[in-house]
Amino acid sequence: MRRAVFIVHARRFLIALLIPACARADPAAFAGPETTARANALLARMTLEEKAGQLNQLSADQSTGPGANPQNADELVKRGMVGAILNAGTARETNAYQREAMEDTRLRIPILFGLDVIHGYRTIFPIPLGLSATWDMGLIEQTARFAAGEASRQGVRWTFSPMVDIARDPRWGRIAEGAGEDPYLGSAVARAYVRGYQGIRLDDPSSIIACAKHFVGYGAAEGGRDYNTTEISERTLRDVYLPPFHAAVDEGAGTIMSAFNSIDGVPASANAFTLTQVLRKEWSFQGFVDSDWAAIRETMVHGIANDQRTAAMKSILAGEDMDMESKLFVSELPGLVGSGAVPVARLDEAVRRILRIKVALGLFEHPYVEEDAAPTDPEKGRALARKAAEESFVLLENRLSNGSPILPLLHLPGRKIALIGPLADSAADMLGSWSAKGQSKDVMTLRNALSDRAARDGMILSYAKGTDIAGASKSGFAEAVRAAKGADVAVLALGESGHDTGEASSRSRLDLPGNQEELLEAVSKTGTPIVLILFSGRPLATPWAAEHVQALLLGWFPGIDAGPALVRTLFGDSEPQGRLTVSIPRSVGQVPVYYNSLNTGRPKADPIAPGAPKPGAHDVSGYLDEKSTPLYPFGRGLAYTEFSYSPVQLGATAMSASSINNGESRLTVGADIRNTGSRDGTETVQLYIRLRGTSVARPVRELKGFQRVHLAAGEARHLEFSLGRDELAFWNIEMRDIVEPGSLYVWIAPDSARGTPAEVDLTP
Ligand code: NOJ
Repeated sequence: MRRAVFIVHARRFLIALLIPACARADPAAFAGPETTARANALLARMTLEEKAGQLNQLSADQSTGPGANPQNADELVKRGMVGAILNAGTARETNAYQREAMEDTRLRIPILFGLDVIHGYRTIFPIPLGLSATWDMGLIEQTARFAAGEASRQGVRWTFSPMVDIARDPRWGRIAEGAGEDPYLGSAVARAYVRGYQGIRLDDPSSIIACAKHFVGYGAAEGGRDYNTTEISERTLRDVYLPPFHAAVDEGAGTIMSAFNSIDGVPASANAFTLTQVLRKEWSFQGFVDSDWAAIRETMVHGIANDQRTAAMKSILAGEDMDMESKLFVSELPGLVGSGAVPVARLDEAVRRILRIKVALGLFEHPYVEEDAAPTDPEKGRALARKAAEESFVLLENRLSNGSPILPLLHLPGRKIALIGPLADSAADMLGSWSAKGQSKDVMTLRNALSDRAARDGMILSYAKGTDIAGASKSGFAEAVRAAKGADVAVLALGESGHDTGEASSRSRLDLPGNQEELLEAVSKTGTPIVLILFSGRPLATPWAAEHVQALLLGWFPGIDAGPALVRTLFGDSEPQGRLTVSIPRSVGQVPVYYNSLNTGRPKADPIAPGAPKPGAHDVSGYLDEKSTPLYPFGRGLAYTEFSYSPVQLGATAMSASSINNGESRLTVGADIRNTGSRDGTETVQLYIRLRGTSVARPVRELKGFQRVHLAAGEARHLEFSLGRDELAFWNIEMRDIVEPGSLYVWIAPDSARGTPAEVDLTP
């Protein structure tokens, strides 16, 4: 026995030595023969009640969810009726429950502890939408890894992240939690999170299991109202909403959370098409599916079940494995299996999937964590949070002031700065929503950091809050105007509160809340140049501001090192590197506005399609009172330098679609990118395609590649991309994922609205 253990450890050590640093966890780690055999051995000893218990997930602090009978979580754990617990987030809490499971239950099956570690555990990084704007997958992975390290030390080995819902509607508050509107970028981001959380080995005590959520279509809520119904065609589902989930599964994500919404009338937590057909049959997903909070119970409210028994039955038969806080699997499944309404094999399958994850995480060997362990290097975390924030900021305007761009702030003749606005000194808001164990006392605000900088560099800083985030009173305006009048520049920190986005935080308007725009207008009248920093978890439609300020910088909610990151950016120690991952609308009426839309038969402008309306034509798709283009397009973001792009260079002007389909050939495309400015800078070079002459209409542009490149002033670099089946296939008229013959247009461009395409003939 001892010898066997030694051999296992020696083998693991050897494997660890052989795995390169960039390797990913084996996607089959929780489905391998050894893991499955251990799960099966346990399964063979379990009673029906114990099996149902493994499928039961309770919240530590709210084990009395809506509509549920008050229950005592401790008692249930001791009786082996709880498989997982959420919201126990400290070592003391997790150990206490774990002791009950390990010491008091018959089979000593450890509890799996989950928490919403969404953009950090204690060290809070920018919100996910901000992180996605970095387009830096290595960085996103590092933030997830750091969060995993912090969470796992507290016994939390499961995070309900990444949220990979594609979102085209900024009214939807949860847009803040995802990677924006694009399935290609969203897939890359999904993979990065999974790699970061799960690491190279799941049984590494610092690895946690990822949960890609919310499966699926949650971001397509009608009207942007959270939890609302979705209507998504199968093609759009497959082309747009499913790919990031597929990427997460492919990267080895151990769990998936089903969504609250219905899809084509069927609630996601009882949807056999998505949970079984797509996830299991097509993608061979081996992990387990968790419901969202009380969502199995809510199938009754949706209207597909009239009683709890039916709700539980429909969900488990559709493919749900774990029940978060509905408490229906635990109460109903023994009876459902006993009566034959649910085959015991289905119950066993769900239990097996859950046990395998517990085995793979090494929970049976190491169920507890040290209670007074020192935190994982907080200074390292802070530095990473600052870097992530700096890379996430998106500069959208940088107009001339005294002959040169206002940012970076290198020309302050009087060395006087006015800092104005309700978000300049609001620590709590910098954390954004879902900030796990983040604490506002850890946050360095813009005001703190700017005061330090002013003191260091002999600048005079005046500060005026001006108004509250949702303020109606103008009593603070005069002080703000006074501060601006005496300054060389007014830095305005405006936007939403950290909780204006997130769950159940949809808005019907996309403007600055309260009277902040009036404050901006009042300050603008002083004539002092304005640098506007917008904090928000969603795109805000602020056309007046966009036109009237000298600089517009999107700060999102930057996390604990918000202030230093912003100050370093303002003064040019760091450059804004973010690029939009969502289109910014001009008004709510334009929503949804997204770059990868279909052309229609009457687009407003299209130089490519034959027969498209002439510029200025009347009967075109658009509005009488608004442009159809967004205020800022997907991919947009300025640097402190400028870049030029050569025409696209093609490896071939004709290629066979069938040879791409069967993996025999790929198309190489390239361009030369030059830093034409006088400062070093980082550009995110984006590759877009368009397909024409296909069996179904394809979007006017689709992102299919990107590279971040740092170029010294004057430096040029040749970049190459490769397009193959993965990039060129789509769900065609027969609903087959295939590369079709037709015309392919390729752009290598700084954003989704610029560049000139090169054309390739895709022959049969
Ligand atoms: C409901 C949310 O929709 C989900 O994203 C979250 O993970 C769970 N609650 C658990 O807190």
